Amino acid sequence: MTARDWWKSAVVYQVYPRSFADSDGDGVGDLGGIIERLDHLQRLGIDVVWLSPVYRSPMADNGYDISDYEDVDPLFGSIEQLDELIAGLHERGMKLVMDLVVNHTSAAHAWFQESRSSADNPQRDWYWWRSPRPGFEPGTPGAEPTNWGSAFSGPAWTYDAATGEYYLHLFAPEQPDLNWENPEVRQAVYAMMNRWLDRGVDGFRMDVICLLSKVLVDGELPDGRLERDPLGAGVVDVTTYGDTTPLVVNGPRIHEFMQEMHREVFAGRPPGLLNVGETPATTIEQARLYTDPARAEVDMVFQFEHVDLDSGPQGKWDIVPMTMLDLKRSWGRWQDGLAETGWNSLYLGNHDQPRCVTRYGNDAPEHREQSAKSLATVLHLHRGTPYVYQGDELGLPNVGFTRIDQMRDIESLNHYATAVAAGQDPAAVMAALSAKGRDNARVPMPWDDSPSGGFTTGTPWIDVHPMASTVNAAAQVDDPDSVFAHFQRLIALRHDEPVVAHGTFRMLLPDDEQVYAFVREHDGDRLLVVANLSDVPDVVAELEEAPYDGADLLLGSVPGATPSPTDPLAPWESRVFRLK
Ligand code: GLC
Repeated sequence: MTARDWWKSAVVYQVYPRSFADSDGDGVGDLGGIIERLDHLQRLGIDVVWLSPVYRSPMADNGYDISDYEDVDPLFGSIEQLDELIAGLHERGMKLVMDLVVNHTSAAHAWFQESRSSADNPQRDWYWWRSPRPGFEPGTPGAEPTNWGSAFSGPAWTYDAATGEYYLHLFAPEQPDLNWENPEVRQAVYAMMNRWLDRGVDGFRMDVICLLSKVLVDGELPDGRLERDPLGAGVVDVTTYGDTTPLVVNGPRIHEFMQEMHREVFAGRPPGLLNVGETPATTIEQARLYTDPARAEVDMVFQFEHVDLDSGPQGKWDIVPMTMLDLKRSWGRWQDGLAETGWNSLYLGNHDQPRCVTRYGNDAPEHREQSAKSLATVLHLHRGTPYVYQGDELGLPNVGFTRIDQMRDIESLNHYATAVAAGQDPAAVMAALSAKGRDNARVPMPWDDSPSGGFTTGTPWIDVHPMASTVNAAAQVDDPDSVFAHFQRLIALRHDEPVVAHGTFRMLLPDDEQVYAFVREHDGDRLLVVANLSDVPDVVAELEEAPYDGADLLLGSVPGATPSPTDPLAPWESRVFRLK
């Protein structure tokens, strides 16, 4: 390892500030709340905090619509408190990575205000302005410049009567896309990133970076095909709109832009920084290009293959069954694909995904803790950098939403309104939202068994988790058998064992429907991971190289058990061995 790839032995923890801890009683989490809870992060043992956006924002998409990149929104506190957070983390040996959204700004950003003010404003070209489609009445359905849909329902274009043109937004109308073709835009973004690094942050989690470069045909944005690209799952509704995936994902100049960003922002700075890109609908080949150190783009990317496995032909809300084998095959391909070149980000959950224990495990009372532990064991022992989403270290399941008025997320609310207006059965729409809606991961972090789970003294912005009184941090941090304690041990293992950080990965039993097993190897040191990722009792891993005499158990999910690699596994039981 070189100082530049320190993140191979690191674990990142994502804080969603709105829902982490509220210090001023207004019902919304804030920087003061995070500062008060740094001990929790230190006890867990994580190395890096990824902080979801705290910039000034009208909060149409909870801060992923930034109106001022250089300041903190008063809802979350002040820039001085952000400095305090950076200092507090650094004192404890942790780093801070800021979430940064540069595919789009808020419509309230000064850049967009200038851009929309007149067709000949010098900043007009900082965003994508286009004329209505000829032959249509401007502002009426069909007059949009292209047939593109937005990820949050509705068309990707909004008409601006003042100048008679449309602007592009791949997400909500409040999130206009920046035009990365314009070098002034790119320089303004790099300058802003440099100011953050100069201020002391340790890097960025770059929101949807794979969307920055759009395909242009003779200078124009083309229509999308009205057939589904297999990679389009979850991006837009292709029954109504053209498929934008081939037109906006990993577009022709994306690698040029990322190399330029690296040169202008990161090159020449001392080691210790992290730049991770969020890249929906990205293939292994693309991920290799992004993360090959020789190409100097980003350190790692979040790929989406495993979070799209339960999306059907109509996209994210068309939920189809997903098996453990699907997950194993997908992750196996990514482990092999980035074995020689590049690096994986390892995640099961974040603020955009439902809770992993419900989705990939089993949240029934008898299985919840074991499945939370064993999913984490498998994830953390892969080759790559693991990410822990707040609450996953407690084994929090989905909320079990039954009514749309319990939800707050723009994506869910828009989808409900659009789907029901289009005639879909409201109960079926609600069932899909309950299973996959982003608010599952956005309800307040439960700290203790007090009324609002210790999150706030006020009224929380969204109801606390129904299990907050039993599944909470206070109940777990001192319990050696808790999910939290298991996460502590997994994180320590990555710090202590070079084989976890640097070892090769070899999948065993690739076709087994219950057992997820693999070997990590580094400098003659070998670890064996065996997990029963199913409800089936007494599963025996038919390991070819068994009986593995003298294997040492390093970590087991079942308290007190000291089995060997070939002893039967209880439902959702996992074990990590050092092999002789
Ligand atoms: C990313 C963020 C998500 C946000 C979207 C638009 O996918 O993770 O929360 O809604 O980008 O910025």
